[in-house]
Amino acid sequence: VTLGADLGTSGVKVVALGAGGEVVAERTHTYPLLTPRPGWTEQRPEDWLAGTRAALRELADDLRALGAEPLALGLSGQMHGLVPLDAAGDVLRPALLWNDQRTGTQVEAIEARLPRAELVARTGNRAVTGFQLPKLLWLRDEEPGVFAQVRRALLPKDYLGYAMTGVPTTEPSDASGVGALNLARGTWDADVLAELGLDAALFPEVRRSTDVVGHLRADWAAATGLPEGLPVVAGGGDNAAAGVALGLTAARPGVGSLSLGTSGVVFAPLAQPTPDPEGRVHLFAHADGGFHLLGVTLSAAGSLEWLHGKLAPEVPIATLLDEAAAVPPGAEGVTFLPYLAGERSPLMNPAARAAFTGLSLAHGRPHLVRAVLEGSVAALADAYAVMCDLAPLDTLLSTGGGARSDLWLGLASGALGLPVQPTAARPGAAHGAAILAMPAAGLHPTLNAALDATRPAALPAVPPLEMGEALAAYAHTRTALYP
Ligand code: XUL
Repeated sequence: VTLGADLGTSGVKVVALGAGGEVVAERTHTYPLLTPRPGWTEQRPEDWLAGTRAALRELADDLRALGAEPLALGLSGQMHGLVPLDAAGDVLRPALLWNDQRTGTQVEAIEARLPRAELVARTGNRAVTGFQLPKLLWLRDEEPGVFAQVRRALLPKDYLGYAMTGVPTTEPSDASGVGALNLARGTWDADVLAELGLDAALFPEVRRSTDVVGHLRADWAAATGLPEGLPVVAGGGDNAAAGVALGLTAARPGVGSLSLGTSGVVFAPLAQPTPDPEGRVHLFAHADGGFHLLGVTLSAAGSLEWLHGKLAPEVPIATLLDEAAAVPPGAEGVTFLPYLAGERSPLMNPAARAAFTGLSLAHGRPHLVRAVLEGSVAALADAYAVMCDLAPLDTLLSTGGGARSDLWLGLASGALGLPVQPTAARPGAAHGAAILAMPAAGLHPTLNAALDATRPAALPAVPPLEMGEALAAYAHTRTALYP
């Protein structure tokens, strides 16, 4: 078996997969999210390590009981975070996370020095508050004493790999979420870094996603019960790894994915690094050597969880969804703009805020829930509208928490104008990390062979639910009200 670890925002998931992608064992461990100030999100890297060691120890016990031999371990995790290390390799302060919004000033500073079109052409993205690059500038501006000691800036999963192996590296799918990787060349962009006064030596070497980057150290072997020297494979950022788990690759260009998790994500594989010139959606490297476009809306299931928590925490979400299913399309005039946490695609505006509109005395809880479902998919449709000329899709495989609701998936299908197909298994980023480790483990000769052997069966598409005039109402709310 190969192992995969996904260092998520709420916890770490580890899995062991057989050569056909079948799950042999899986374990999870949670850790806290720190929010020291509004808009700030941090985690303690030592919590990641402790959680991962605990999860791997249980997984190793499971494998021993089953007589399954671990051959290699692949890494995945939340993208964009900053783990600052000193000269001794020690963590200097808690990590700043992908959803942290403190870097507005630094994003402006980047845009003042580098024209947006040039940054997009080089790195695939405009400056984004969540990315690692503005976080480093924030550290230089706000915590200069800490910044002076920084010798290395690692992404979350790459820090985990460093702790396990002693070797600091990264790979293209996560590195392209820093904001300073030259996508066409696959190396750090010296001109961008020089313009911002950052030393290129802060960033680790970029290896391939399927490369063995090091071997499990003795202390990790002792703590987990896994074999010392187990090959550790670079892996991929969580979206790329989740794409690998679904078998998404530029070799099958029309197949993308839809994830209704805390954030909403539309993933479209791409053979060439062709960005949206305005940077309204992300362009990242894929873990297969190609690229992918990513439309990210920040509050999809996050909006539903918010409403559930504020309005009716005692009512099961399934009940709220049943009530919403009985409301006609368009929620009888109620619309919801889902910018509770600001917005990425296509607005790229951390200051955007959410709104319910069109409320009357006749509306109640079911309408609010229906509007949240419809508003979240209307926002994803806005993102896909930017993507569809660059990477047209024929179908979307669904993943994420919302994948359990046919109502929500049907609304997404109607709003995006694409079939939405659940998959038989519901593999995620940890599975993708384990698949990325298969070539190194000798289970398959190439990543393409591993993708073909593990690709989950797509189920029939859910019936699309058309929002009709309501979609036009969203277009109006967004153009008239959002500005
Ligand atoms: C992608 C992004 C999120 C994180 C979540 O750009 O910010 O999907 O990777 O873990």
